[in-house]
Amino acid sequence: LNFLNVKDRRKIIDILINGLARLEYRGYDSAGLAVDGDESTDILLFKQVGKVAALKKLVSEQNVDFEKEFVNHCAMAHTRWATHGQPSMTNSHPQRSDPKNEFTVVHNGIITNYKELKTLLENKGYRFESDTDTEVVAKFAKYLYDTRDPNKDLSFTALVKDVVKKLEGAFALIFKSIHYPQEMVATRRGSPLLVGVKTEKKLKVDFVDVEFSTEEKIPEPVNSSGGLLAPPTDGVPKLRHSQSRTFLSEDGLPQPIEYFLASDPSAVVEHTKRVLYLEDDDIAHIGEGELHIHRLRSDEGKSGSAVRSIQTLELELAKIMKGSFDHFMQKEIFEQPESVVNTMRGRVNFDAHKVTLGGLKAYLATIRRCRRIVFCACGTSYHSCVATRAIFEELTEIPVSVELASDFLDRKTPIFRDDVCVFVSQSGETADTILALRYCLERGALCLGITNTVGSTISRETHCGVHINAGPEIGVASTKAYTSQFIALVMMAIQLSEDRTSMTQRRNDIIDELKKLPEYIKQVLSIDNELKQLAKNDLNKEKSLLIMGRGFQNATCLEGALKIKEVSYMHSEGILAGELKHGPLALIDSDMPVILIMTKDSLYPKVQSALQQVTARKGKPIIICNEGDDGIEVHYEKIRVPQTVDCLQGILTIIPLQLLSYHLAVLRGIDVDFPRNLAKSVTVE
Ligand code: G6P
Repeated sequence: LNFLNVKDRRKIIDILINGLARLEYRGYDSAGLAVDGDESTDILLFKQVGKVAALKKLVSEQNVDFEKEFVNHCAMAHTRWATHGQPSMTNSHPQRSDPKNEFTVVHNGIITNYKELKTLLENKGYRFESDTDTEVVAKFAKYLYDTRDPNKDLSFTALVKDVVKKLEGAFALIFKSIHYPQEMVATRRGSPLLVGVKTEKKLKVDFVDVEFSTEEKIPEPVNSSGGLLAPPTDGVPKLRHSQSRTFLSEDGLPQPIEYFLASDPSAVVEHTKRVLYLEDDDIAHIGEGELHIHRLRSDEGKSGSAVRSIQTLELELAKIMKGSFDHFMQKEIFEQPESVVNTMRGRVNFDAHKVTLGGLKAYLATIRRCRRIVFCACGTSYHSCVATRAIFEELTEIPVSVELASDFLDRKTPIFRDDVCVFVSQSGETADTILALRYCLERGALCLGITNTVGSTISRETHCGVHINAGPEIGVASTKAYTSQFIALVMMAIQLSEDRTSMTQRRNDIIDELKKLPEYIKQVLSIDNELKQLAKNDLNKEKSLLIMGRGFQNATCLEGALKIKEVSYMHSEGILAGELKHGPLALIDSDMPVILIMTKDSLYPKVQSALQQVTARKGKPIIICNEGDDGIEVHYEKIRVPQTVDCLQGILTIIPLQLLSYHLAVLRGIDVDFPRNLAKSVTVE
């Protein structure tokens, strides 16, 4: 953060801690911050293990005059999710170059060559205090500073460029230094980073152009409507990097501006909705109220785009608050009647039985001609792909493969120009999914993104795509994003198959049922209390739970088991009922808890036979079945959901399992929204 007009440290610390708290939903293990000391050439560092509240407490206990005013102030803060080194005070960020805090750094991502850099620095006498990869960045900055040519001016930007040139891996980094008071430099490669810009006055200039290098020809700056930018007037201070620009007010004068650097817009949205997303290898310098964006290398030409435009976020803070619910997860489960409508809004014409996904329009012909479609995702997003693969293949007659992003990369999967690759990600920032996307882009495949986050890396780097519009999802366990991804993928299959008349009836049936979904979901949510009792009386004391089904319900089994294990820590496994005889049946006895999904579709007789196999081994499954299904013997415990068309039934069968996992977690006293060891956005490989 850099502030020109916010003077007291207290306010800055409050803003930073609040910003960290907004990101806490992603799940973290420690937090820290660095602010200017009493002399602006001092840096104070505070770090704490645990939640952001613990850091807040630590800071409030310090004997520092936080009301002290500064003309200009930069400060930084971070929450950490351990990748190198366990959660501890020394391992949390900001990391520092030395006990005098000459350089402090916060970092998201992984520096893959940190060991070589560490050895190099150790050989030069630098001593390391943490186990992190980040500490090498701070120390390397100090090393370059200490060994600079004393006869030449070394700008903070130039120094950071030299540091970054030596780094491999993925990172978003922010640097602060006592040698460059009131300046801040930020850069990214592979990890998200944005600049929020807050100013009271209306901005005349709504963009920042990029400085490639002083030797290079600079592209003509253009404003958002394509016109040339008026040259700076006399009232404008001389810009240190002549081709970068500051923001001007309407009267042409520079104005007080607060800049926010953050990995996620939810950290800054309450201060400003105007954000600029940095691109890989951008080096952003903030100082004296000005923002300058440089490129890492002057010789790489214009590989990044030449203009960084400021976007206005649509995220409402109120929407990311819990409201009357006890937990975000619970709120998000109960939001599903509305979130599914938001996914379909303006896209499904129920009367004309037509689906139009604007983001795909220009690419439909290419997709229809492709050789195969590859779905690629992680976690819950992966399950949404499993859930819709069958209807995709049925409607489009294009072969579909479903890939876990990490495995896809491990295998170095062959990908060709005539493949269409679909990347599904709630956050749009999952590192494995992004790497898989880049792998496919390099091989010339058409790449589509299905994300819930406008402006995310996946939505920016794919050729086209669909935003699922489910609204911010904060609970680490994904719920409403799953049902919305599910619907987005079904809509995509319908649209792709609209030229196939043999499928008209099938499409119409699905569209009719899509319309009824919100009502059906409300009915499922109305059995919440029964599910709570079931969790309390039947399942809470158990160690393990098997969830079985087949066909369209296979994904529900996998996703249901994932929900149970991630929030209640109970072992749970999703089992394809067709595989029972090949192993899982050995687990069945009178003590093994089983949930069997037995909805009315073409596979019903086969699931009946699975039920026989389980009961013959003295298993007593709880059955998820359709309302009005009288064919199941009375002695079974049942969870009833409305019947819908086979390919949408999974939306209604997952909700009872979401609720069940939620109640189990609450009963077990688990912090539902922040399950241990997990993060909402896994931005590291
Ligand atoms: C993490 C989250 C999961 C999520 C997965 C994929 O593991 O805890 O809830 O399903 O990442 O995230 P994405 O944002 O790519 O959908």
